[in-house]
Amino acid sequence: MKVLVIGSGAREHAIVWKLSQSPKVSEIFSAPGNGGISQIAKCVNIKVEDTDVLLSFALKESIDLTIVGPEVPLVAGIVDKFTEKGLKIFGPCKKSAMLEGSKKYAKEFMMKHGIPTAKYAVYNSFNEAINGLDEFSFPLVIKADGLAAGKGVVICNNKEEAYEAVRGIIEDRKFGEAGKEIIIEEFLEGIEASLMCLVDGNKIIPLESAKDHKRLLDNDEGPNTGGMGCISPNKILDEKLMAEIKVEILEKVLNGLQNEKLDFKGILFIGLMVTVEGAKVLEFNVRFGDPETEVILPRLESDIVNIFLKTIDGTISQEDLKWSPKSCVCTVLASGGYPEAYEKGKVISGLDKVDSDVLIFHAGTKRVDNIITDGGRVLAVTTLADSIDEGRKKIYENINKIYFDGMQYRKDIGKKLN
Ligand SMILES: Nc1ncnc2c1ncn2[C@@H]1O[C@H](COP(=O)(O)OP(=O)(O)O)[C@@H](O)[C@H]1O
Ligand SMILES: [Mg+2]
Repeated sequence: MKVLVIGSGAREHAIVWKLSQSPKVSEIFSAPGNGGISQIAKCVNIKVEDTDVLLSFALKESIDLTIVGPEVPLVAGIVDKFTEKGLKIFGPCKKSAMLEGSKKYAKEFMMKHGIPTAKYAVYNSFNEAINGLDEFSFPLVIKADGLAAGKGVVICNNKEEAYEAVRGIIEDRKFGEAGKEIIIEEFLEGIEASLMCLVDGNKIIPLESAKDHKRLLDNDEGPNTGGMGCISPNKILDEKLMAEIKVEILEKVLNGLQNEKLDFKGILFIGLMVTVEGAKVLEFNVRFGDPETEVILPRLESDIVNIFLKTIDGTISQEDLKWSPKSCVCTVLASGGYPEAYEKGKVISGLDKVDSDVLIFHAGTKRVDNIITDGGRVLAVTTLADSIDEGRKKIYENINKIYFDGMQYRKDIGKKLN
């Protein structure tokens, strides 16, 4: 089979790596890919938002299966476009992708189908939103409705912060049209967890759990980032909680998708807050998480092509997923200055010195003569081990062998937090 993976992060590198192990796969393309992906796939220089160009490419190359990494092309309707032309593609249709593309739509979906979530209200003008603040107590959460590359959510501790957030989103249009409407939401106290599920239209099957680390600095301090590390499994999602989540959330989500006639075939990533009242949904994403994918796929022992195909056909079952009992730890090496401004083009050294059982998934890298940095998050250093603790030791021993100018990373991934 000829396979195309859309995207350019460590998530896509992990997907390409897993695909490359399948005996069914003869050739892998990635658009646009990165320095690491280029070592195991053919990278084609097409941007993820150029869905028409991607379609022409897939038709010209007779691609048998396409996997979409990031949300932007999904929300733009790439799945509908490919499906209309008879191409197999893994991901939700445009309408289903609204579960990520519009937080208002997601909230309405949750209310309608009885899925536990924070109380909220939607506003489309500065004055209305400011008046609406009185309905909530502080802290509260303000969110831009549309896609904002993970930057559209502000937790506000007082009126001044709320005014500033509302002004930034609705008046200054910091996120463009994504901020035409805002959601004000009750602040939920608890422990965050996320759960990725395969959805095939008939079933919703959770993958193994993972715990990411969004803050830049050790002890969960500093600004939010795209994710600085991840571990799997996530101890908080134990059997008892999973049983509750299955009934209170997963079954209701599936029921909702079917009721709304949403043709969802792909990954539904559920962001959860585990509160004293049980787990509540913070948000939906409609694709693999990053860095969650980097710690989940190494634990997957089954052929991933089979899983993609069966999900698209609506015939996936729990038995198709075999998991390693091992733990997986991943630490992200980022450019100096990230998540603010950073420099690119730094030569990365030492990659050839890392142990053979350490996986290096590339994020922002480019291959010129050497591998050089080309983004904020640069490498996801990953390993399987008998325990999280052992994995953590292995990761940090190996990170010591890697260097690029300005390199920064968290030293506490896999340590006991919470
Ligand atoms: N209602 C809430 N209560 C507490 N924290 C929240 C709430 N909603 C969002 N957050 C925090 O903000 C982060 C980002 O919000 P989320 O809804 O996941 O949007 P996005 O990932 O699109 O930025 C969450 O991971 C969580 O830490
Ligand atoms: Mg989120």
